[in-house]
Amino acid sequence: MIDKYINKIIQGDCLEVIRKIPDNSIDMTFADPPFNLKKKYNGYRDNKDFTEYLTWCKDWIFEMVRITKPTGSIFVHNIPKWLTYYAGFLNEIADFKHWIAWDAPTAPMGKSLQPNHYGILYYAKSCRENKFYEIRYCHKRCRKCKVLLKDYGGKKDGLHPFGPLVSDSWTDIHRIKHNKYRDEHPCQLPIHLLERLILMVTDENDIVLDPFIGTGTTAIAAKKLGRRYVGIDIDPTYVSTTKEHLEKTMVDSKANDVWVSFYLGEIVTVRNKDWEKVKDCFAIPEPIKEIEYQKISKNRQLSELFNH
Ligand SMILES: C[S@@+](CC[C@H](N)C(=O)[O-])C[C@H]1O[C@@H](n2cnc3c(N)ncnc32)[C@H](O)[C@@H]1O
Repeated sequence: MIDKYINKIIQGDCLEVIRKIPDNSIDMTFADPPFNLKKKYNGYRDNKDFTEYLTWCKDWIFEMVRITKPTGSIFVHNIPKWLTYYAGFLNEIADFKHWIAWDAPTAPMGKSLQPNHYGILYYAKSCRENKFYEIRYCHKRCRKCKVLLKDYGGKKDGLHPFGPLVSDSWTDIHRIKHNKYRDEHPCQLPIHLLERLILMVTDENDIVLDPFIGTGTTAIAAKKLGRRYVGIDIDPTYVSTTKEHLEKTMVDSKANDVWVSFYLGEIVTVRNKDWEKVKDCFAIPEPIKEIEYQKISKNRQLSELFNH
């Protein structure tokens, strides 16, 4: 039964734990494994042999797919090098949806191009049955004057007042830079990154599982959005930190009774279908005002043309 795992953070080896979880029982699985880059974790040694690392990854990827429901989604975050192998494993057992390029500069790696994105592989357990919601992110604006930063080629009149539909290239979410926002963990992800994924493929009360929970990002995002969670980590210190965070986390990521994602007090991700319900919570900055939005509504074709 899945019930005994619900809203639990489990200390242990993810393969041992996940093998006990029933088939087709989880709505969304998300994994952010160690990247095998000799990162300094509290206990885990991040330096497996090449083949050993990939064999291990193949094992937990297989388990993630097994426990995901037919309507569910599987996400794996890593550097492109490892994702090329992951895609090979996943193509055999699930349906490819997207390679999301998360624009985030990484450390130089010697004689190579400067790495500028991490990848998040998005697979459906079954493409035909996959639950998916279109989502929007807010326009990038100058912090002071609120002018749009992107040049839309003179077509700004046709823009959605909140922002474009999210594509497979994410440039608006940054890694956590300031120590005051970080835990003692070398690779903590931003909560609103996970909130965006969760809003995209789950509904309220759905179950989100992360086999490498670290200091809790996925579970915190799930809880804030009214979803249920299961988190696993081998390190007891990270497990305690996660539990402490979760105790303080409120189920509160709502505007006008609609689940949305906030960052620094502002809505940053909203489901397309929910926009009408939340739009009065969003102060449309100059130069896009309500009157322009009405213009767009009258001309849906134009609007759709620029919703990219
Ligand atoms: C990249 S970090 C995850 C960070 C997490 N996404 C966050 O935002 O905090 C990888 C995590 O995997 C954990 N880990 C390593 N081997 C594991 C295993 N066999 N089972 C479960 N967790 C493991 C490490 O302790 C580490 O916290």
